[in-house]
Amino acid sequence: GKVAVLLGGTSAERDVSLMSGGAVLEALRAAGVDAHGFDPAELDLHILKEQGYDRAFIALHGRGGEDGTVQGMLELLKIPYTGSGVMASALAMDKWRTKMVWAACGLPTPRYAILNADTDWDAVVTELGLPIFVKPVHEGSSMGATKVTEPDQLKAAWELAARFDDLVIAEEFISGAELTAPFLHDRALPLIRIEAPGGNYDYQHKYFTDDTRYLCPCGLPAAQEQALQALIMQSARVLGCRGWGRADLILTEDGRPYLLEMNTSPGMTGHSLVPMAARVAGMDFTQLCLAILEDARL
Ligand code: DAL
Ligand code: MG
Repeated sequence: GKVAVLLGGTSAERDVSLMSGGAVLEALRAAGVDAHGFDPAELDLHILKEQGYDRAFIALHGRGGEDGTVQGMLELLKIPYTGSGVMASALAMDKWRTKMVWAACGLPTPRYAILNADTDWDAVVTELGLPIFVKPVHEGSSMGATKVTEPDQLKAAWELAARFDDLVIAEEFISGAELTAPFLHDRALPLIRIEAPGGNYDYQHKYFTDDTRYLCPCGLPAAQEQALQALIMQSARVLGCRGWGRADLILTEDGRPYLLEMNTSPGMTGHSLVPMAARVAGMDFTQLCLAILEDARL
């Protein structure tokens, strides 16, 4: 049957999604799948039913696509879709509540504070130390995020993040290796270690420059990598994720992991991480897209 690749959308990550969706569409077509691109920013998803689509590949990032809204629409239309369902998508889009669930389950995640106009900035600095990461609660790709290194930068960082979101989170900075852990179906893929120049893995370094180093295999001893993969699968399970996804974490020098966030519709661009890990696991980009699609459900 026909497959709709959903791409674009209206979030701040629209451009990233156009890259992800374009790559997925091309790969599926090359594999002989009757796939067509749809941008929910331009079309009502009802049209998918009318035009006889029987599956959707969600390559949308951010709100209005990765956050359970599109998933809910597809549930009502009874069109099976890739990735997590409504609840896990909504939960994982919310960095604050994701951390609350992880903490409640005893999974390690950095300490944090929610910022607003009444925040006592000095108290936050005292509590979390410096640096502090300030982020919109519901964004991806480092949109609106700042690494605060001086106390007097905190308020401006909150103002910037607040342009993207009603909710802004400040998180303690954990010094260590930046790792990302994709999973496909119920299996963790190899971890990737990210080394961005100056430790600054921001929007530019995520998509547009070639000076970020990616190590996959990540160089950890096998037993340690397996323990981290088990942690990742547990972090996904407690959020209710399914199909595929990618958790980001920091590993301190003395071997303590801290979960940062869960992505339920990770990037699939030429620079993206899930395809990189899949390749090391012996799957090319087309095989990866087909494997994600195979798992489409309601
Ligand atoms: N939010 C971006 C797309 C990612 O996690 O890959
Ligand atoms: Mg993210």
